[in-house]
Amino acid sequence: MVKIAASILAADFSDLYKAVRRVEKAADSLHFDIMDGHFVPNITFGPNIVRSLRDKIDLPFEAHLMVDNPQEWVAPFARAGCDLITVHVETSYHLDRLITLIRKEGVKAGVALNPSTSLSQLEHILSRVDLVLPMTVNPGFGAQELLGWVLPKIRSLREIIKEKGLSLEIEVDGGVNQATAKEVAASGATVLVAGTAVFNANDPKEAVFELKRSCDGAFSREKEGVVQWRQRLD
Ligand code: DX5
Ligand code: ZN
Repeated sequence: MVKIAASILAADFSDLYKAVRRVEKAADSLHFDIMDGHFVPNITFGPNIVRSLRDKIDLPFEAHLMVDNPQEWVAPFARAGCDLITVHVETSYHLDRLITLIRKEGVKAGVALNPSTSLSQLEHILSRVDLVLPMTVNPGFGAQELLGWVLPKIRSLREIIKEKGLSLEIEVDGGVNQATAKEVAASGATVLVAGTAVFNANDPKEAVFELKRSCDGAFSREKEGVVQWRQRLD
């Protein structure tokens, strides 16, 4: 069953807690897009936003670091309450050292790829991570159109993971909505990041269930996705 990571980038920041509460019972994790205005042409927020929600929201938190020098931000986001930290392969000369740094904080480690970055960059790191995040938009903004030409890359990634006998999440991020979710899931995604499709919906909770329904046919309203995730973290 596909899991949904709700990206708060599209949430109403004038009342963020209320916006997140509306998806807490449906989403499987909360996705924090961290942007520094260097690696991507936008600036978002820091560890304080994570910390402000950590004790109030019962979901796994994941930081998607779209920043130069990610090594400086692993500890602050882990200690603010993230359960997973995903870094871009394009931002590190020493990716294995960076993954080790994340693991030392006792949290899950993910690697993200921009749309034009080749899977070959992951060849020697796949067995060291818990999740791969292929971007289906050029990072920096929500509400963009999904880049369909990335889907074959996701299918290849799924094959590689299967061949190597690994059990990794494939979390697809960017332009996921009612129209694209099924094809993204069919390409091999196990987690879909959704910002606009969720937080701009009239009923964000129902929007999450609709995304699941569109991918899985039958779906259960229990949040087994979170239970599985939590079990893996404990
Ligand atoms: C873009 C971010 C995505 C984005 C997704 O750089 O990494 O997580 O918030 O937003 P939507 O779902 O609106 O495309
Ligand atoms: Zn993201």
